[in-house]
Amino acid sequence: MVNKIKVFAPATVANVACGFDIFGFALDFPGDIVTATLTSKPGVTISSISGDGSTLSHDPQKNTAGVGVIKLLASLQSSQGIDLALQKKMPLGSGLGSSAASAAASLFAANTLLGSPLKLHELVPFAMEAEKAACGAAHADNVAPSLLGGFVLIRSYNPLDLIQIPINTPLFCCVLHPKIEIHTETARGILKKEVSLAQLVEQSGNAAGLITGLILGDPRLISRSLQDVVVEPVRASLIPGFHTIKSAALSAGALGCSISGSGPSIFALASDKRDLEVIGNAMQKACHAEGIENELFLSSINMQGPKIL
Ligand code: HSE
Repeated sequence: MVNKIKVFAPATVANVACGFDIFGFALDFPGDIVTATLTSKPGVTISSISGDGSTLSHDPQKNTAGVGVIKLLASLQSSQGIDLALQKKMPLGSGLGSSAASAAASLFAANTLLGSPLKLHELVPFAMEAEKAACGAAHADNVAPSLLGGFVLIRSYNPLDLIQIPINTPLFCCVLHPKIEIHTETARGILKKEVSLAQLVEQSGNAAGLITGLILGDPRLISRSLQDVVVEPVRASLIPGFHTIKSAALSAGALGCSISGSGPSIFALASDKRDLEVIGNAMQKACHAEGIENELFLSSINMQGPKIL
């Protein structure tokens, strides 16, 4: 029986402009790595964390990597002991689903060590519990794509209804991470609790358009649909230079550009891999002009989800 496993789980772009809390896709790069080991003492421990600048708690109840596995073991009524060693390979509080990637990697690793009693989609609720512990909201638009890969629609939260949307056109992503930190809880707290009927019509039209564009493989429809009239206008105020950076991405040929998750990262999509660098450079230049340090990630869409290393 295998008693140790090392797993990578991908970063994710949530919301994808028009799908607040209901759309997300996974990236090939970056992501987090968790090494899980079966232990003789019941319960979950976190023996080491690297790459977090000593900011994350080693208390498994207070770390998304630990919370999900604690809930999983409880649900399985298992008294198995599991130790987690966490390698953060992506920026924290960046809007790239850092807490979700840790939760997804540790859950995938633990489930595998336990003999895979649950299917991948059955792990999502446990990862959502971890998200709730991290930011107060059990949103699934980071954890579901991190666990399942690809582009995921959360059609409903209650009951949870996850749908993997086929992407029938080449799609590449460029993510600019301005080096400021935004807490998801704060970014959710500033949102208006109500939308107008006109906003509902526009946002649902774009959400339906984006899904249709992905299925039909129609980059122009995808491009027209990547608009957010509800959340982006409010959260843009948290990201210095957001509008300039977005304009730079669009002028450089991006299909669309918006805030990644709760920010501050900004994503842009392209249908040609060769365009990514040009778009990324334009975004970086605009961000530097604001005097903000940043880093760039260029990636394909990750169709696999977690993988054993
Ligand atoms: N849908 C969530 C939000 C994603 O925008 O608050 C957080 O990464």
